[in-house]
Amino acid sequence: MSDLRFDGKVAVITGAGAGLGRAYALLFASRGAKVVVNDLGGDPHGRGSAQKAADIVVNEIKQAGGSATADYNSVTDGEKIIQTAVKNYGRVDILVNNAGILRDRSLPKISEDDWDAIQNVHLKGSFKTTQAAFPIMKKQGYGRIIMTSSGSGLYGNFGQANYSAAKMGVVGLANTIAIEGGAKNVYCNVIVPTAASRLTKDVLPPELFQELKPELIAPVVAYLCHDSCSENGTIIESAAGWAGKSQIFRSKGGLIRKHITESASIENVRNKWSDITDMTTASPRNSLPAALADLTETMECLRNGTEKPTGPSREDDIF
Ligand code: NAI
Repeated sequence: MSDLRFDGKVAVITGAGAGLGRAYALLFASRGAKVVVNDLGGDPHGRGSAQKAADIVVNEIKQAGGSATADYNSVTDGEKIIQTAVKNYGRVDILVNNAGILRDRSLPKISEDDWDAIQNVHLKGSFKTTQAAFPIMKKQGYGRIIMTSSGSGLYGNFGQANYSAAKMGVVGLANTIAIEGGAKNVYCNVIVPTAASRLTKDVLPPELFQELKPELIAPVVAYLCHDSCSENGTIIESAAGWAGKSQIFRSKGGLIRKHITESASIENVRNKWSDITDMTTASPRNSLPAALADLTETMECLRNGTEKPTGPSREDDIF
């Protein structure tokens, strides 16, 4: 099979001066894309700025024979980053929202400044940059957008409440962008990486740190951005040369009132708790219409006074 290439495509990678973003930029450029290497160049906590980070990666790309332009704006000025792409290359096809910082503190110690800084870079930055690129992508009938989440968002992590919230925020953002862009071939997916970088050097065990190269995740992001890939609205976790899909599952649940004319009670919630939380027959939830179809079925059961089909009916034992 032929190589997957990005000739003629323009890729904007935010936070591409280091770590994962740098690996993405180098791979896209090596496969023919023109790359906007965005990086504010501050410290890992989002303080300061420097042009060096983006410049070094641009030089690396150019020395390897590729095409790249540096952009030094913060993602909070996302429209300026997209302007750099349009001004230099006339279009934008791929946007990888990757820039990130950390302000780790346990919940009681998170200052408002720590909270705002994290939401601004991860969530608002992804929104601003994507909002600017989205109409261009829709108009040209092709676009690939990546949001960067984190295991800390999907699963939680002590000391990262601000970061976890922002990283789940971008999942919600991606879910809706996937719906709004899908019909126009503008797809939005989420990468959940684990890789060695300055953000993880103090949290990953040293022997693991050596192995978790950002270059092992870059092909996953690049594939999601290729025009031959029709994945949309999906969360992909990746690390160490592995990738897998993550999805939200919901239990079949249980009715906490017997009939539409009855009210729900705390006791019925207690009595049905094992049904509510039983994940052995859980199924994935992919869309709001699917969830609403379930609700219609629930209403029907309540009107008829029948139990939802959650396996053998045990309503007589429970109510
Ligand atoms: P990194 O610190 O090596 O790279 C992040 C880059 O973003 C830096 O070069 C930084 O200057 C740039 N940046 C920060 N704020 C910016 C802003 N306002 N505007 C433009 N550029 C800005 O970190 P790493 O690990 O490569 O992180 C990349 C992304 O992956 C981040 O969003 C991070 O939260 C996420 N992530 C990383 C994980 C890992 O294991 N390394 C795990 C889960 C998520």
